Amino acid sequence: MLAMNYRGPFRVRADQKPYPQILHPEDAIVRVTRSCVCGSDLHLYHGLVPDTRVGMTFGHEFIGVVEEIGPGVQNLKVGDNVIVPFNVACGRCAFCKQGLFGNCHESNPQATAVGGIYGYSHTAGGFDGGQAEFVRVPYADVGPTVIPDWMDHDDAVLLTDVVPTGYQAAEMGGIKTGDTVVVFGAGPVGILAAKCAWLFGAGRVIVIDHLEYRLDFVRKYAQCEAYNFRSMEDPVLFIKKTTDWFGADVCIDAVGGDAAGSALQTITGRKMMLQAGSATALHWAINSVKKGGIVSVVGVYGPTDNLVPMGNVLNKGITIRANQASVKRLLPRLIDHVQKGHLDPKAIITHRVPLEEVADAYHIFSAKLDNCIKPVLIPPSARK
Ligand SMILES: NC(=O)c1ccc[n+]([C@@H]2O[C@H](COP(=O)([O-])OP(=O)(O)OC[C@H]3O[C@@H](n4cnc5c(N)ncnc54)[C@H](O)[C@@H]3O)[C@@H](O)[C@H]2O)c1
Ligand SMILES: [Zn+2]
Ligand SMILES: [Zn+2]
Repeated sequence: MLAMNYRGPFRVRADQKPYPQILHPEDAIVRVTRSCVCGSDLHLYHGLVPDTRVGMTFGHEFIGVVEEIGPGVQNLKVGDNVIVPFNVACGRCAFCKQGLFGNCHESNPQATAVGGIYGYSHTAGGFDGGQAEFVRVPYADVGPTVIPDWMDHDDAVLLTDVVPTGYQAAEMGGIKTGDTVVVFGAGPVGILAAKCAWLFGAGRVIVIDHLEYRLDFVRKYAQCEAYNFRSMEDPVLFIKKTTDWFGADVCIDAVGGDAAGSALQTITGRKMMLQAGSATALHWAINSVKKGGIVSVVGVYGPTDNLVPMGNVLNKGITIRANQASVKRLLPRLIDHVQKGHLDPKAIITHRVPLEEVADAYHIFSAKLDNCIKPVLIPPSARK
């Protein structure tokens, strides 16, 4: 089968790889009909995630058709069209039982922090991902969710990650009616976080980025304010000034370790790897939230240390909430929001790329070329 193949930082290609096997009675094999490239894949592509092995297939955002099921699978049948959450979760450990599907204790024996994630290095369990024609889906009774008949499959594929992540970013912010919410990052996740902030009752939503085309997009898509941090002397000062010097009620970091904007953070976090990615947006979020405010972090950082202003967290009495999104927990609510027209995920898809051209998709998305917001990969078997 054709699959994306990681060859080392900034080098990916489409190759022939073996068809995946059922390895456990609760596995399924899914024939992928669409997969996306995510900002999280860029951390892998840029070589920032430990134990990313040459030969791995990335791809944690995919939907498809159930092709085969193991003898223990009860909730799925061959031919079902399914949304597969990016978390690999067992559904029965103490963490899954609390709805913390991103922190499953069983699916990733390599770590005690993150649970398994498809196509996300051996730090996240070493599962091959869905930027391929076929993928092995463990715990098939837990994650995969049948796509409702009425749902557009372009909406469905975005429910595997960026919609739940944007929604959870807003949810973790504990937004109260009328709150001012600042979202750092106008990528797919930040765009959805801004949109979802209104669903929680925000009174003002401000997005910060440095890519004008994304700022233009989010202004229209999420009906919010959007500003370029390159045109400010200091984004923290800007936010304080525009909130009567109080600071924002809630700040969301939808950037993570690939952040630009601070030479110190970039050199130590992205060039010298002395910290787990550049924590610039997190720094700005902590410094521009009000005293007693909440910082919600969905931007991904590596598993080790980062330079963050801990003294300000303490002295301002800030609450920091962070996690990988718990996709399965949120799916029923989000399917309902899409059906009611509150969310229009597919509008963020800008590029449809044949899986054979996966290298171009990574390059365009990573270098932010051609006004790219979200690329979707279509395998050859899904184009027949
Ligand atoms: N927690 C989760 O479950 C989860 C799920 C999906 C993605 N993510 C993470 O969310 C983050 C965003 O993902 P994406 O797909 O939107 O990525 P993306 O790369 O498309 O977007 C990131 C955006 O941040 C902007 N940016 C860079 N530095 C900035 C700064 N200092 N301040 C403000 N904006 C800045 C970039 O210009 C870009 O538009 C990534 O870190 C990704 O790993 C987390
Ligand atoms: Zn993703
Ligand atoms: Zn579990």
